[in-house]
Amino acid sequence: MAVIPKKFNFAEVKGITENQLTQHYQLYLGYIALLGNVMNSLLSKELTAYEYRGLKDGESYSLDGIVLHELYFSNLGQSPIEPACQLLELIKRDFGSYKAWLNDFIRTGKVARGWAVLAYAYRDNRLHNFMQDAHNVGVVWQAWPLLVLDVYEHAYMIDFGIDKEKYLEVFKQNINWSVVNKRFYELSPFSLKY
Ligand SMILES: [Fe+2]
Repeated sequence: MAVIPKKFNFAEVKGITENQLTQHYQLYLGYIALLGNVMNSLLSKELTAYEYRGLKDGESYSLDGIVLHELYFSNLGQSPIEPACQLLELIKRDFGSYKAWLNDFIRTGKVARGWAVLAYAYRDNRLHNFMQDAHNVGVVWQAWPLLVLDVYEHAYMIDFGIDKEKYLEVFKQNINWSVVNKRFYELSPFSLKY
């Protein structure tokens, strides 16, 4: 079954140009095409172990690439909404303060090659700022992503050149908490341990 690309409204994104976002979106469409090709190729009966291994890597790489970009594009944009009270409580519990969490999240983005992800891990019942060096590297199972930051060069090079720190500053101003809060409310209440 083919994956249908999602559309995103970038009207509320400030400080990142439409050109940057549109070209980035084209890459996302590329992952959708790649996933289709990989899944079709896996049906072939004439694959060597080497080819099969490459395609299995491509399967998780392209599907994670799709999911992460969808989460990133949707949580990008300025919003008057603040983190929900319960989420803020968890942030304070697990990082000490909102400021400490944000510093750690941005620091994670600074050292990552691919992604920084704020996620709630069901196994240890706490929030983490996870680092991913590729779409399918650093993924933690049974963790629910709340906020996603793309730090690949393609996410900012058109607007900021090699100035990753400036991009990260702009990202801080473009966290759509109404989307993040919605993801937080989708967590199973039975898994949240205070
Ligand atoms: Fe990207």
